[in-house]
Amino acid sequence: MTQDELKKAVAHAAIEHVPSGIIGVGTGSTANHFIAALAAIKGRIDGAVASSIATAERLQMIGIPVLDLNSVGEMEVYVDGADEITRHMAMIKGGGGALTREKIVAACAKKFICIADDSKLVDVMGKFPLPVEVIPMARSFVARQLVKLGGNPVLREGFTTDNGNVILDVHGMNIVDPVAMETEINQIVGVVTVGLFARRGADVFLMGTQNGVKTLTR
Ligand code: 5RP
Repeated sequence: MTQDELKKAVAHAAIEHVPSGIIGVGTGSTANHFIAALAAIKGRIDGAVASSIATAERLQMIGIPVLDLNSVGEMEVYVDGADEITRHMAMIKGGGGALTREKIVAACAKKFICIADDSKLVDVMGKFPLPVEVIPMARSFVARQLVKLGGNPVLREGFTTDNGNVILDVHGMNIVDPVAMETEINQIVGVVTVGLFARRGADVFLMGTQNGVKTLTR
């Protein structure tokens, strides 16, 4: 199977974990397969909270009402992909630039279901450049602080987040303590969100492999 077929397989497997009611939906190519799979069960979905404008548009296209998080409160599940994930369920996210809204919607869900192919499973995170969403005027200041932490931040050229901010992709990080690093980067003035999801990682990881979909739990 190709990587895209593995993504599709986990997206379909995630449907079994979707309760009736309201769900949170992530962003990216794996999440897009999940949205396509949702079409078959949309009768039992009252609505969805989207983690990006792109996801909201896709949900609306298949007839699933998109709800404002402020009017929803808590959800049973949030389903999303990842750029890297460890066996301890910590993740790097934000390759698609939606990390802040993803983290907010995930925080409001009882269960985070990560859907990804097995190329995303790593022992130590950091090979994938760590996305950091930054207030534009703080870009240089934040970049200097990230260099002090041992990283090589690179501005994502020509990209503005749904929140009107910029992204620094930090190369060369060896993330041995993801919880500590998430806390430290979040403290830098001007940082909106770091794409480390360790303090609140995934609860279930549906991993696409050549031998079928494997389920890892926390
Ligand atoms: C978007 C994300 C995505 O979940 C992550 O980039 C994985 O994307 P894909 O499913 O396309 O591999 O965090 O901000």
